[in-house]
Amino acid sequence: MPTIDRRSLLRAGVAVPALAALAACGSGATSPRLISPTDKRVRSVESSRRASGNTSRHTVRASADTVDLGGPTVRTWTYDGAIPGREIRVRRGDLVEVRLVNQLPAETSIHWHGIALRNDMDGVPDLTQPSVGRGTSFTYRFVAPDAGTYWFHPHSGVQLDRGLYAPLIVEDPDEAGAYDAEWTVVLDDWIDGTDYTPDQVFETLRKGMGGMDHGGGEMDGPTLMGATSELLGGDAGDVKYPHFLVNGRIASAARDFRAKPGSRVRIRLINAGGDTAFRVALGGHRLLVTHTDGFPVTPVETDALLIGMGERYDVVVTLEDGVFPLTALAEGKEATARALVRTGSGQRPPVSARPRELNARIVGYTDLRAADDAQLKPATPDVEHVLELTGGMMEYDWTINGRRYDPKKSLPIREGQRVRVRFRNSTTMWHPMHIHGHTFQLGADGPRKDTAIVLPKRSITCDFDADNPGQWLTHCHNIYHAEAGMMTVLGYRA
Ligand code: C2O
Ligand code: CU
Repeated sequence: MPTIDRRSLLRAGVAVPALAALAACGSGATSPRLISPTDKRVRSVESSRRASGNTSRHTVRASADTVDLGGPTVRTWTYDGAIPGREIRVRRGDLVEVRLVNQLPAETSIHWHGIALRNDMDGVPDLTQPSVGRGTSFTYRFVAPDAGTYWFHPHSGVQLDRGLYAPLIVEDPDEAGAYDAEWTVVLDDWIDGTDYTPDQVFETLRKGMGGMDHGGGEMDGPTLMGATSELLGGDAGDVKYPHFLVNGRIASAARDFRAKPGSRVRIRLINAGGDTAFRVALGGHRLLVTHTDGFPVTPVETDALLIGMGERYDVVVTLEDGVFPLTALAEGKEATARALVRTGSGQRPPVSARPRELNARIVGYTDLRAADDAQLKPATPDVEHVLELTGGMMEYDWTINGRRYDPKKSLPIREGQRVRVRFRNSTTMWHPMHIHGHTFQLGADGPRKDTAIVLPKRSITCDFDADNPGQWLTHCHNIYHAEAGMMTVLGYRA
């Protein structure tokens, strides 16, 4: 087991973990008690969260619908009939109350991606709650403690790769708002309702490349072959998507964002894709990166950025006069989606137009630093878990530390610890790794994130303070890798 517990009683500056450790020793128990999602510690941490006193109430109806992607019409599953689903907007500290009405022909759940919320509202069936059955409803209720750009999606099978996703924006009541307008831009790769459902895609992938028919017939299947990207260090993805979307539209039917020339706009970018990283640029403009996964960074200018599944970036731009493509290149997949930014008159640029900024400076994690008030306090990790990313396309056996996900097995952490998770990628493909319920710091003073790309044969270190007790899923945000087994649990012990 690549687990080093460097915690010592001497170093434990807080009473609670020390007491817990004593109790564990005294009873002679070999395995300390798991802090379950319904533990009283979960409730007591929730009640200590800085709450605004306001309740923000919403209903989300999940159902099967027909949706127009701007030409192609597809049968799929959506939240309230739209792709993306309706944005939920709350203020920091609000009690968020969302009633999920499940009208799907399947069980479902909602996970609030990136929110440091109470564990029993995290929406992971078999780990934090029972599935929400067909024809039933469930009300999620939690305080949103941090401002930022978040989103939500099911944590049930590969449902995320249907139309079930929507933004969750937590506003900061104290923020000055150094911009005139704010746009939310959601990127997605699309296959559902064309030749395959995501379930059929997964069934095909799961047979592995070994089991594939090499008679040439495979070219028509949903498995992507030979798509590579230098930025991603090799293989770009596993799935051949017929469409790529920005806010639910294919490139030829791109939506317009309108503003006055000279205005400053905050753009919140969210990658809701199943298996696609996007390279994003706005023709004729530079982007000022201000936030990563909701948390502020020291602002950095860039021409383009790379955004993996589950990641978010906020950028601020000062708009020129004209019509400009906000282009999302499906990295390594030779296709684009886009929105148009219109501040004056002018023709729509042709669909094939690719802003030159896409190939100019692309900001990387090492160029980013968490803003001063978002820095973790310097501390030596009390515990370190090495999560080796393992498996591959041949057998489609994506795993962590060589083991498939088992909700009953977790990597131990304790409340009050500084935790270091080192993701070490032994595979030949990149993985966007996501930790639930916490926002880690990348490297020593890098950006705060909850999802970070790990390139093939590389590793990253993610430090966080264990201040949110419960059982927290940690996984690859490639939905097909996750479903194949590339998930594990960081489990608090008392
Ligand atoms: Cu966005 Cu575990 O998920
Ligand atoms: Cu992966």
